[in-house]
Amino acid sequence: MFDAKIYTKRRKLLKKEFKKGILLFLGNTELPMNYPQNVYHFRQDSSFLYFFGIDEPGLAAIIDLDNKKEIIFGDDVDIEDVIWTGPLPLLKDKITNVGVAECAPFSKLSEYLENAKTQNRKIHFLPPYHPNNQILLNTSLDIPFGKLKENASPELINVVVKLRSLKGREEIKEIENGMKTAYKMFTTAMKMAKPGLFEYEVAGKMEGIARAKNGSLSFPTILSVRGEILHGHYHNNQMKDGDLLLIDAGFETPNGYATDHTRVVPVNGKFTQKQKEIYQIVLDSQLAAIDAIKPGVTYQSIHLLSCKVIAKGLKDIGLMKGDVDEAVKAGAHAMFLPHGLGHMMGLDVHDMEDIGQIFVGYDDEVRPSDQFGTAYLRMGRRLQPGFVITVEPGIYFIPDLFNLWKSEKKFTEFINYDKVAEYLGFGGIRIEDDVLVTDDGHKVLGKPIPKTIEEVEGLFK
Ligand code: GLY
Repeated sequence: MFDAKIYTKRRKLLKKEFKKGILLFLGNTELPMNYPQNVYHFRQDSSFLYFFGIDEPGLAAIIDLDNKKEIIFGDDVDIEDVIWTGPLPLLKDKITNVGVAECAPFSKLSEYLENAKTQNRKIHFLPPYHPNNQILLNTSLDIPFGKLKENASPELINVVVKLRSLKGREEIKEIENGMKTAYKMFTTAMKMAKPGLFEYEVAGKMEGIARAKNGSLSFPTILSVRGEILHGHYHNNQMKDGDLLLIDAGFETPNGYATDHTRVVPVNGKFTQKQKEIYQIVLDSQLAAIDAIKPGVTYQSIHLLSCKVIAKGLKDIGLMKGDVDEAVKAGAHAMFLPHGLGHMMGLDVHDMEDIGQIFVGYDDEVRPSDQFGTAYLRMGRRLQPGFVITVEPGIYFIPDLFNLWKSEKKFTEFINYDKVAEYLGFGGIRIEDDVLVTDDGHKVLGKPIPKTIEEVEGLFK
């Protein structure tokens, strides 16, 4: 938890943007895994964490602008709980840690909301994603389940996105601290890429390192010798000579901030010539994208720049052909790079995706593309100092996509299908770092994880 002053300041900036009504922030509750007492790992709602800091289940907060009140709702443990949990701090003491003066039992929240509704007061809330919060809003405000999202407050969405997009010094420090653990997770895992080991042994080791630093994973680890599967969560393959192991993982710090990196490593410690060529194109694309990051530039244009570096590199080795600009304009590169260059990162690895990626990554000026590939770009708008974004281009050889496009004779003017056929079974390569937009450019966050071909191979010497 940060100092109480940080949370008070965040709420002050939030309140400045509203004249009246109620701002409602619903924390998360625990959810049963296989019976009520055996629960999933608890993760607090990120906007609740951002403004109210308490990382515990069963809380909600109200900022009542008309009555100038901030109240956190929640329940203290009673003797029935204490025999299982031991004595726990009281809510009235916990709220002082985040600069809030008033608390009330959780049961009072519905009453508060129902009264406000009767008085026709505006209740602003964010789009709810947690089933218990959806039920709470449905029962307290009488909003049908299917209409909860559309009843969320556009004003609150915009202000929360504006505030959370600009990372404060304390947030950058937290992310950079987290990256010390991410460095350890990655260098340990990369060195484990040896024939005979199973992917789950590596994934488990990474999670153990995260847990041993009082944090967890910022998302389920993607780790696979089938790197062309973009979100490969199946970890049962046994690594063998000649495989490439793709590792996309992140640490979640004790204060809830994410890191997100991807590295690819040859399982026997030595890239083949073919692997080296593709790896270098991805690396060139990533470095060109990072180099272009500065305030005022749209991330959509940087995405397209990285696609062009990839198309040019693939043309140089004979997999693509024709005019590079035209190929990217037409979307032919998406055969190899069918996802976006990156996303915002902060308290969520895809920061604020629950609120709506369209509000986080786009605005009136920069609209999402509907072209296959670029349509998956989560972040397109102009960069501002304080944004933290991921930069993660890749090249993948996806057999199903290849077969489909080939059968449709799609982009035959830009894709050398005969040559690409020689790469089926290659897998995929993605390289990812997290970058802070600064006043005059950018800063790649954290201790650099080995990334060049020499550095990656050097891990095995
Ligand atoms: N690093 C995983 C993702 O961005 O989806």
